[in-house]
Amino acid sequence: MIDAFARKIDYMRLSITDRCNLRCKYCMPEDVECISHDNVLRLEEMHRLCAIMAKLGVKTIRLTGGEPLVRKGWLDFARGIKGIEGVENITLTTNGILLEEHLEELKELGITKLNISLDTLNEGIYEKITGSNALADVLESITTALYIGMKVKINCVPLAGINDHEIIQIAQMAETLPIDVRFIEMMPTEVNGGLVPMPIADVMEMIKAHYPDLKDDSHFTTLPRGFGPAKYYKTTEMEGSIGFIASISDIFCSTCNRIRLSSDGFLTLCLHHRRGVDLKELLRGGASDAEIEEAVKVAIMAKPEKHHMKAEDGKEVNLKHMSRIGG
Ligand code: 5AD
Ligand code: SF4
Repeated sequence: MIDAFARKIDYMRLSITDRCNLRCKYCMPEDVECISHDNVLRLEEMHRLCAIMAKLGVKTIRLTGGEPLVRKGWLDFARGIKGIEGVENITLTTNGILLEEHLEELKELGITKLNISLDTLNEGIYEKITGSNALADVLESITTALYIGMKVKINCVPLAGINDHEIIQIAQMAETLPIDVRFIEMMPTEVNGGLVPMPIADVMEMIKAHYPDLKDDSHFTTLPRGFGPAKYYKTTEMEGSIGFIASISDIFCSTCNRIRLSSDGFLTLCLHHRRGVDLKELLRGGASDAEIEEAVKVAIMAKPEKHHMKAEDGKEVNLKHMSRIGG
């Protein structure tokens, strides 16, 4: 559907669980309090909401978490929503740990676009950031995914004094592999464990110094990149590309095509606003599809024009755990 600022809303990020098998320090605290089971939507409830969203024009659904692959039944759920009329693409954001054994099934389902988190190539640092020693599993998933022809994007959050010395090494993955390596500036959350983000401008400067002929990737392709917040660059020799996502930037708000549904059924219109609507309450209160559809329409019409997170506004919003919203 089209919102009040003429933006076409056709993309939904769906957090199918707030639970995760990692504890990335910038995302959740070690003693994170999970949403109680009763308050997490059942997969049938999520399916119903997806069908309503598809009716309203959502064509792409990205499954996120927490870690989506820790939710029991996620694959059948994905299969189910693939069958909804109007749903054209399902994509997945995952930490990659449980991914490898499901890659073939995902491919069969046509889920071939994967965003995989990878902040470091060093086991010790991986453990420091995520609390787990599963780096090898993630790297194996990435290798296999590429091998069977999936489109892989890597998400890396540069952290001062932790993985900042690895930036070039991680970027170099895009030299020989057909992947987009994306550097995402850490967003302030209530839990980010004393971590200091490396400003994305500094990351960009470091990478430009290493690759002097780095160019905006519109020089290499005429294919549209979609409306995500990443800006991509590459050199003629690179198989993949290097992307940058600044956390506090509003330059993409005018083309923002997305809404977010949390695992407890809260529909958020903008990552940086608390405004939204509790669809669980409606669902469980016995609302009809038409009533829910109406509530979603009203909410989308109230999607803010842009966020006001810039420092000069003097009112930065601190997000709660990212694991609740799914990034
Ligand atoms: N800032 C930026 N990115 C974050 N992610 C999680 N928490 C944060 C944060 N505070 C990102 C990670 C992961 C994706 C799922 O969400 O990069 O790849
Ligand atoms: Fe889990 Fe992703 Fe959060 Fe890390 S960033 S704890 S992998 S949800």
